[in-house]
Amino acid sequence: MLEKFRTAVATQLSELSGVDKDLVLAAIDAPRNPEHGDLAVAVPRLRVKGNPAQLAKDWVEKFQSNDLITGTNSIGPFMNFTINKEILKKDTLSSVFDLKEKFGMNNSGAGKRVLADFSSPNIAKPFHAGHLRSTIIGNFIMNLHRANGYDTVCLNYLGDWGKQYGLLAVGFDKYGDEKQLEIDPIKHLYDVYVKINADADLNPEIHDMARAYFKRMEDGDAEALAIWKRFRDLSIKKYIETYEKLNIHFDVYSGESQIGPGMVKGEQLLKEKGITENIDGAIVLNLEKYKLGKAIIQKRDGTTLYLTRDIGAAIERFETYNYDRSLYIVSTQQDLHFKQLFKTLELLELPFHDRHAHISYGLVKGMSTRKGTVVFLNDIIEQTTEHMHEVMKKNEHKYAAIEDPEKVAETVAISAIIVQDLAAKRIKDYVFDWNRMTSFEGDTGPYLQYAHARLCSLQRKVPMEFDKNIDFSLLKEDEAFAIIDILARYPDIISSTMTTLEPCTVVQYALKLSHAVSAAWENLWVQNQPDDIAKARLLLYYCARMVLGNALRLLGLTPLEKM
Ligand code: ARG
Repeated sequence: MLEKFRTAVATQLSELSGVDKDLVLAAIDAPRNPEHGDLAVAVPRLRVKGNPAQLAKDWVEKFQSNDLITGTNSIGPFMNFTINKEILKKDTLSSVFDLKEKFGMNNSGAGKRVLADFSSPNIAKPFHAGHLRSTIIGNFIMNLHRANGYDTVCLNYLGDWGKQYGLLAVGFDKYGDEKQLEIDPIKHLYDVYVKINADADLNPEIHDMARAYFKRMEDGDAEALAIWKRFRDLSIKKYIETYEKLNIHFDVYSGESQIGPGMVKGEQLLKEKGITENIDGAIVLNLEKYKLGKAIIQKRDGTTLYLTRDIGAAIERFETYNYDRSLYIVSTQQDLHFKQLFKTLELLELPFHDRHAHISYGLVKGMSTRKGTVVFLNDIIEQTTEHMHEVMKKNEHKYAAIEDPEKVAETVAISAIIVQDLAAKRIKDYVFDWNRMTSFEGDTGPYLQYAHARLCSLQRKVPMEFDKNIDFSLLKEDEAFAIIDILARYPDIISSTMTTLEPCTVVQYALKLSHAVSAAWENLWVQNQPDDIAKARLLLYYCARMVLGNALRLLGLTPLEKM
């Protein structure tokens, strides 16, 4: 939306300063204080010799105002530009009206493919807070890439291989129950796992049995693999149902167990490059030169490890998907692992070694409920839904008017979980707080859903035809301009967030828009207004609703029309 204003600034400024136009374009930002103008350039970013404050002053004086840029000023090294709000108003509202769900998207990633490995829980183990964050952040990052025109591959890399699955099979022999496995495989397998672990603590023989069983699996023993495959298939089926509630879809369910030829190739390459050593029969990769310690690639009994499988997985993924970028959305607890992985890929001189990134995030604390610590994704959703339902019931009058309160409670609860997770910088830890996240006030999911539903309800209450051919001069109040200014910046939010991959930018944006709308309700009425004014305001609110909905969808929420 701001593109043509930016170009107007850049064209003239490039002539005045002799700086390349693209460089000027890249230096155009929003001013820190909106009262100073609409676009700003910090002179040091233009990398020219001279006193920045003096240059800012000179250039601003010479700058010719025109149709698009109506005013300029300089403050220290900053040049500020005021844009023609009448043009911005018309452009923005018409464009939102025309593009609807597509408003804000761009094609900068066209022809490029990005793969993300996220959620990636471990079968028979708790789906802990780390997995929850990976799921929510990963989904957002992929939505963001799609909004920027990328082709995306969402991959769930299950923890489904290793000695613990031998242990699980041994445990299932003793404690397994077919019926329970059918009903809730994730929970049942977890229960079995907990029990057999307790047994193994008392009786080390069980560990030997588990190791032997896993060895059979690694050797491709059909019977051993069949049981394990059933556990895996049933768990995936259950996971798909739960992800469905979150509106998350994976293109591929892979997992540590699925890595074959890539691992052989990786081990071969490691040998060729001579960067491993044999210590008592174990193959060890020495990365001490890079301050990344030593990593075991193959144990003495010939079995592989997490890192070995990730090396193989990277090789196979690149062969299969030929990605431009591959992201691993995993908590900071695995920082060292990913540094080791990326360093290894580099040492192996794999031509795609520089296409990877570890997108990390902090911890969640206090994720427990009346029933104890939450260990399954389903429980997290159910518990929050229950809580949300209680909060909603407190407003009896409103509650009575909701058609399907259970469903609404679930959707709002999921919004609460997502917004709580995405509200601050990824790297920050946060406390899982049921009361705060389910509140309708503050920086919460319920607040954003409410703001959206209220905009939708206006359209139901005033079922008046409107289109983009309104008398734009009737939208003249500060509250209207404030909303339009925010709407116009949405495309920038989508493109600029690509460099940081910080969801909080979008959360803050959605909150800011909701606050601006809520301020407008006081003054800009639609009901009982002359038709032309009502039509103009209806368009404004419709556009606000559309863009707020777009921002919520980008975050992974399902915007509610009624609540
Ligand atoms: N399953 C692992 C865990 O729970 C996360 C896997 C992340 N992805 C990867 N390629 N290592 O810790």
